[in-house]
Amino acid sequence: EFAEGQARFEETIAADQRVEPRDWMPEAYRATLVRQIAQHAHSEIIGMQPEGEWITRAPSLRRKAILWAKVQDEAGHGLYLYGAAETLGADRAELTRALVEGRQKYSSIFNYPTLTFADVGVIGWLVDGAAICNQVPLCRTSYGPYARAMVRVCKEESFHQRQGFELLWTMMRGTRAQRAMVREAVDRWWWPTLMMFGPPDAASPNSARSMAWRVKRHSNDELRQRFVDMTVPQAERLGVTLPDERLRWNPERGHYDFGAPDFAELARVIAGDGPCNAERVRRRAAAHEEGAWVRAAARAHAARRGE
Ligand code: 3HC
Repeated sequence: EFAEGQARFEETIAADQRVEPRDWMPEAYRATLVRQIAQHAHSEIIGMQPEGEWITRAPSLRRKAILWAKVQDEAGHGLYLYGAAETLGADRAELTRALVEGRQKYSSIFNYPTLTFADVGVIGWLVDGAAICNQVPLCRTSYGPYARAMVRVCKEESFHQRQGFELLWTMMRGTRAQRAMVREAVDRWWWPTLMMFGPPDAASPNSARSMAWRVKRHSNDELRQRFVDMTVPQAERLGVTLPDERLRWNPERGHYDFGAPDFAELARVIAGDGPCNAERVRRRAAAHEEGAWVRAAARAHAARRGE
């Protein structure tokens, strides 16, 4: 049974096919998928906070409607991903407890503050742009439910990135103060966005196995490089200078050379020592508490209908 299952699993991965919930899979494959999908889902839900703070302060009804739609999308992305984790036997309530108790992680990027409305544009342009670099390959990840969740997420993510760029484009053609706000926000978010792709490949304990199982299709450094190559021309178009004197096109490599992110900062933020970690987890816990009555009502309603 085990040997047969193992052989079938390896054939599926080698043939670049999808592993489905009912298929036999190594326990370690299941565990690393629950780890990554749960973290991805937590990131989407926590990611609602930084931008959510600006919904009531958006400068126009149009900007408010766009931001509202984006934050709502992030909630949906979280729900698709918790659903994908449940196909592996994970329990959604337990995943939320693990997040609130600090036993599971969420993306480092959401531990930075959103100080002006330009941050909303920079998050859309840079953070969602980075998310697209990371999530498009995940549409081909070996676990079926995760890959299928990514297809829909990526469609919505391109709206997120475009609306962010359009907001910055408008501000860069606005007043001197608006241009200064954009430049200041880009300076704050550039390096934390590069850190979002994870530690360098040489310091990435999960990569080798995740790549062998085709969970991860490209390494952390490859995707970071792809993001820089995609973003530098956009920054030039926008008229902003990225805060890295080492950034320059390298014709031999056919890529941009760039400076090294501060991976010690990444490790500190992952360990809980970022600017907003405590606030983000506290608010997530409070939202869960405040929502207890909704869950109780849904259970009572389901019980009355005999579901
Ligand atoms: N933030 C928090 N933790 C991070 C991290 C980051 N930016 N980068 C790495 N880590 C953690 C890893 O989770 C791992 O810890 P663990 O073993 O306890 O889980 C450790 O640091 C070592 O990193 P590895 O490179 O070995 O880990 P992975 O192989 O899992 O690679 C990853 C990390 C590239 C983030 C990968 O997990 C991944 O691709 N995840 C799915 C995509 C995702 O989560 N994106 C993040 C944000 S979602 C988003 O952007 C929403 C959008 O709408 C804005």
